[in-house]
This record gives sequence, C-alpha cells and structure tokens, in this order.
Amino acid sequence: MKHPVALLGIAALGAAAVTCLVLADETAPPQSTAAVTLIGPTHFLQTDGGALFRAACQVCHMPDGQGGSGAASYPALTHDPRLAASEFPIVRVLHGSKGMPSFAAVLSDAQVAAVVSYVRTHFGNDYKDKKDKVTADQVRSLRTMGP
Ligand code: HEC
Repeated sequence: MKHPVALLGIAALGAAAVTCLVLADETAPPQSTAAVTLIGPTHFLQTDGGALFRAACQVCHMPDGQGGSGAASYPALTHDPRLAASEFPIVRVLHGSKGMPSFAAVLSDAQVAAVVSYVRTHFGNDYKDKKDKVTADQVRSLRTMGP
C-alpha cells in the first residue's frame, strides 16, 4: 500500500519550495544566488510596483531597499543616484548583473516599468518628475540589449 497522504505532502512541499525560492525569507539575504534562481515558466502575477518589489526584489534588496550582505553583497537602492537615468535599472532588471538575476522571462514590459518606477520613487529616490518616466514601450526597446 502506497502512502497517498505522504506523496501529496511531498508534492505540496515541492510546489511551496518553488514559490519560496523567490518569496523566501524576508529578513535575511539568501545564502547564495542559486537560492533565488527562477525556475521554469514562473511568471509574477502582481501588477503594482510595490507588490512586485516585495515579491521579486526585497529578498535581496531588503524591505526598505537598504540592501545587505551575507554570502554575497546586495546593493542598497536607497538614495541611489544610479537610478536617475531610467535605462540603468531597466537593464539591470531585464538582464541581471553578477549576483542579480535576469527577470526578462518572468516579468512583462509593464511589470518591469512598474517595479522600476517604484524603486525610482521610493527609498529616498525621487525621480518621478524627470522627463524620462519609465514606460512599457521603453522596457520593450531595451529587452534585446545586453547587460
Ligand atoms: C538574487 C538577489 C537579487 C534579486 C532577487 C534582485 N536583485 Fe537587484 N541586485 C542584486 C545584486 C547582487 C546587485 C549588484 C549587481 C552588480 O554588482 O553588478 C543588484 C543590483 C541592482 C541594481 C543596481 C543598483 C546600483 O546602484 O548599482 C538595481 C537597480 C536593482 N538591483 C534592482 C532590482 C529590482 C528592481 C529587483 C526586483 C525586480 C531586483 N533588483 C532583484 C541582487 C538581486
């Protein structure tokens, strides 16, 4: 006799693990970047910039964008002059860099625009009045570019 309950438990654990890889541990950076490798055809469902930040970014950059260091170093996004030109964070989110994963496959153009707009207008950043407001069209045009 098999143990359907146990098997179900394992299947549920597997599903939870995939979610947790991205959403895990809101208080400490993951031990290695492998812990947040995005698996399979997962796609974030959030559309709001803040919700996207919490789901996709804060695991490394921390809830207040202050960054942190553990096995790797996660830069603060607070008072970040490198966010002034919108292309920079868009390209980082789309294509990744070193310990930062690429989100091109898991975020739509509109979602990238939303989360980049969020970090550019929170955590002590105030780039909302700049004329280069982030749009989905702009994200689309940067998708084909390398990091
Ligand atoms: C797995 C951890 C991880 C996740 C998740 C992550 N980042 Fe990063 N991020 C990093 C690391 C590490 C760097 C530094 C990369 C480098 O040194 O080239 C970085 C760099 C950045 C930078 C450049 C900051 C600067 O001033 O140089 C921005 C902007 C950024 N991330 C935004 C985001 C956004 C927005 C998200 C969510 C969509 C996100 N990150 C998700 C790890 C992460």
